[in-house]
Amino acid sequence: MGVKLGILGLGTVGTGTVQLLQDKTGRHPLLQEIEIYRVGVRSLDKPRAVELSTDVVTTDLETIVNDPAVDIIVEVMGGLEPARSLILKALSNGKHVVTANKAVIARFGAEIFTTANQAGVYVMLEAAVGGGIPVIQPLKQSLSVNRIQAVTGIVNGTTNYILTRMQTEGSNFSDVLADAQHLGYAEADPTADVDGLDAADKIAILASLGFGGRINLKDVYTEGIRQVSKTDIAYAEKLGFVIKLLAIAKRITSSEEDGGTQGYGDAGKFYLSPLSVRVHPTLVPKAHPLASINGVYNAILVEGEPIGQVMFFGPGAGAGATASAVTSDILNLAASLKSQKVSTENQSNIGSLNPLLACG
Ligand code: NDP
Ligand code: HSE
Repeated sequence: MGVKLGILGLGTVGTGTVQLLQDKTGRHPLLQEIEIYRVGVRSLDKPRAVELSTDVVTTDLETIVNDPAVDIIVEVMGGLEPARSLILKALSNGKHVVTANKAVIARFGAEIFTTANQAGVYVMLEAAVGGGIPVIQPLKQSLSVNRIQAVTGIVNGTTNYILTRMQTEGSNFSDVLADAQHLGYAEADPTADVDGLDAADKIAILASLGFGGRINLKDVYTEGIRQVSKTDIAYAEKLGFVIKLLAIAKRITSSEEDGGTQGYGDAGKFYLSPLSVRVHPTLVPKAHPLASINGVYNAILVEGEPIGQVMFFGPGAGAGATASAVTSDILNLAASLKSQKVSTENQSNIGSLNPLLACG
C-alpha cells in the first residue's frame, strides 16, 4: 500500500519534512510506503533545498486538496487563509490532515474538528505546540485521567532565544530577532512571536486539551517581550530571577478570582471551573525548573492530580525539530491507514473516529 501526501508549503517546516521523508535509510519502515505526491507553493521560481520533480510542485493548492489520489494533506504553509479553507476542504474530501498551524487551530479548531468528525478522518497537530516536543498526544492520551490544575510553559522558541541572548550576551533585541528569523524560528510575521500572540495560540490549544473545553483567544491576556530591556534583565539577575515569556493556564482558586476564562462543553454548558489563561514576561526564580530553559528550547510543566508535576522539554522551533513532529504524525496516520486496510480486508471494522479531536 502506498500513502500519498499532498504537502501545502515548502518553507522551513515543509523543507525539513520533505528531507526527512526522502531519507529512507532505515529511520522507519513505513517511510518506504510514503509518496510525496504533490507539494503546493506560492512561487515556482524560488530556489529550493530539496529536489522534487516538476510535476510534483504546483501553485494550485486547491487541486491538491481536491485530488482523489491524495490520502493525507500536510498543511505547513501557515497563516489563517487560505490555510483554514484548504484544511476544511481536505477534511470534507475525506483526507486526513497533519498541521503545524497553531494560529488556525487556536481560532478554528472547533470548526475543523467538527468537520473531521463528520468526515470520519483524523487531524494531527503535534508540531503546532512545542516544535519537536511530544506534548499534544501525551496531554490528550497518557495524562487524560488526571485532573489538570495548571499548564505553564515556555512555548515560543523565538522569544526564548531572544531573551536568553539578551541575558547571556547583553545582545540587542533587534539583532537577535534577525538571527532568529535567519535560523527559521520566527513566524513569517515575527510580530506574532514578539508580541506573545504565537504563545497565546499555543496555550489556548494546550488549555483546551488539558482542561477539556474551548478557550476563546480574546480571553487570553497577552503581552509580549517588546518592553523588556537589558536593564530589566540585569536587575532581575541581581535579585535572583530570570525573565521568561511564560504561557500559563490554571484553574482559579478562591483566592485568585481575577476573572478567568470560562469553558463551554458541546451542549453549551459551563463545565470547567474558571481558568486564568495568560501570556506575559515573568520573573522566574533561578531555582524554578523553567528558569534554565534557554535558547530555542521550550518546556511545558503540567501539574495534575494524582500525577503531580510532569515537564516536557525540547527544541521548540526550527526545521529539523518541527519536521520530526510533523513526520511522526504522518507515520502514525500511515500506520492507521494500513491497519484500516488490513481490517477491511478481514471484514472487520475498526475505522473509528479520531480519539484526539477534542480541542478547539
Ligand atoms: P515559511 O514561511 O518558511 O513557509 C511557508 C511555505 O508555505 C512557503 O513554502 C510558501 O511558499 C508556502 N505558502 C504560504 N502561503 C501560501 C499560499 N497562499 N499559497 C501557496 N503557498 C503558500 O513558514 P514555516 O515553514 O516556518 O511555518 C509553516 C507553519 O509551521 C506555520 O503555521 C508555522 O506557525 C508552523 N511552525 C513553524 C515552526 C518553525 O520553526 N518555523 C515550528 C512549528 C510550527 P513559497 O516558498 O513559494 O513562498
Ligand atoms: N515561531 C515559533 C516559535 C515557531 O518561535 O516558537 C514554533 O512554533
